[in-house]
Amino acid sequence: MSKILIIGGAGFIGFALASRLSKKKNNEIMIIDNLSRGKLDADFLKLTQKKNVKFVKKNLTETLDLKIYNFDYIFQFAAIVGVRNVYSKPFNVLDINTKIQSNLIQFANKQKNLKKFIFTSTSEVFIGTLEKKKLKFPTPENETIILNQLSDPRSTYMLSKIYCETLLIHSGLNYLILRPHNIFGPRMGNDHVIPELITRIEKLKNNINKLYVENYNHKRAFCYIEDAIDQIIILYNSKKVNYKIINIGSPKEKKIYDLVKLILKIMKKNKIKIIKTYGKNRSPQRRLPDLKLNIKLTNLTKRTNLNIALSKTIEWYIKKI
Ligand SMILES: NC(=O)c1ccc[n+]([C@@H]2O[C@H](COP(=O)([O-])OP(=O)(O)OC[C@H]3O[C@@H](n4cnc5c(N)ncnc54)[C@H](O)[C@@H]3O)[C@@H](O)[C@H]2O)c1
Repeated sequence: MSKILIIGGAGFIGFALASRLSKKKNNEIMIIDNLSRGKLDADFLKLTQKKNVKFVKKNLTETLDLKIYNFDYIFQFAAIVGVRNVYSKPFNVLDINTKIQSNLIQFANKQKNLKKFIFTSTSEVFIGTLEKKKLKFPTPENETIILNQLSDPRSTYMLSKIYCETLLIHSGLNYLILRPHNIFGPRMGNDHVIPELITRIEKLKNNINKLYVENYNHKRAFCYIEDAIDQIIILYNSKKVNYKIINIGSPKEKKIYDLVKLILKIMKKNKIKIIKTYGKNRSPQRRLPDLKLNIKLTNLTKRTNLNIALSKTIEWYIKKI
């Protein structure tokens, strides 16, 4: 039996992981989330009704004091994320994200049998390295981190993650840091490129309307949520994992322009005219994880076909619109 705590488990990745882990009856799962972003929707309520899942609504900027529990694993997904949040409340991004980590590490240190603390960082830690044109592609985990443009609000997100990684490294806990790269799928926030596109396209009329696409020439390696969860499930309790920082994602890159064309085709709206534009914010030109270490540890080389993954995501979002 494993007792597993998932912080931020009402959100996108945390929910998908909790759903998968709950299928194993001898996993006892507790989800903590303040529902600032994650939702008490039908999917989440169904999950919390399972016998081996418990949900506690709590804000992790406050000290966590659960006396009865003795967790084997703690997953930390909670954070203020998304470009809109970063530009509208940069102070909160840095302040809240680091407070959550600090509180949780204190709580983790009180657990007698804790086997691992798993933290989700981000590929964005390398935004400064990219801007200084020093970033390798594909990007390995041990690439040099360069800090750049600290006064730009967007820096608060990557700084919060770098600070949280460092705090955990020096916490004395056994830890694993995951760096997800562009994970997508049903139930992710609306503030990301794929759901935002689906929502806009759904409202447009084929043949008549135009679709403005920012940063059309940027490249991303999009990874379907179920593939990311496959990787996380193997990595979190693997005895082989001596490596402490691991990229999560897909090795296949796609230009945003080609992604939009594919979404239009799946949505049967390929007569809509794409108007190419440039974004105003510091969106990275390219993001591509080096997955050698990930594949060495997981043996997972196959990824869900992008057409199929996008179709499932589109279907889910259309129902919600
Ligand atoms: N989705 C991606 O592609 C991606 C890429 C890189 C990094 N990450 C990181 O992975 C983690 C999970 O990402 P996600 O897409 O699932 O995000 P998400 O916003 O869907 O989930 C985060 C959850 O944390 C909760 N939360 C926020 N502040 C909280 C607080 N103070 N107390 C308790 N709960 C709080 C939110 O309500 C939400 O349910 C994040 O830390 C994010 O930075 C995600």
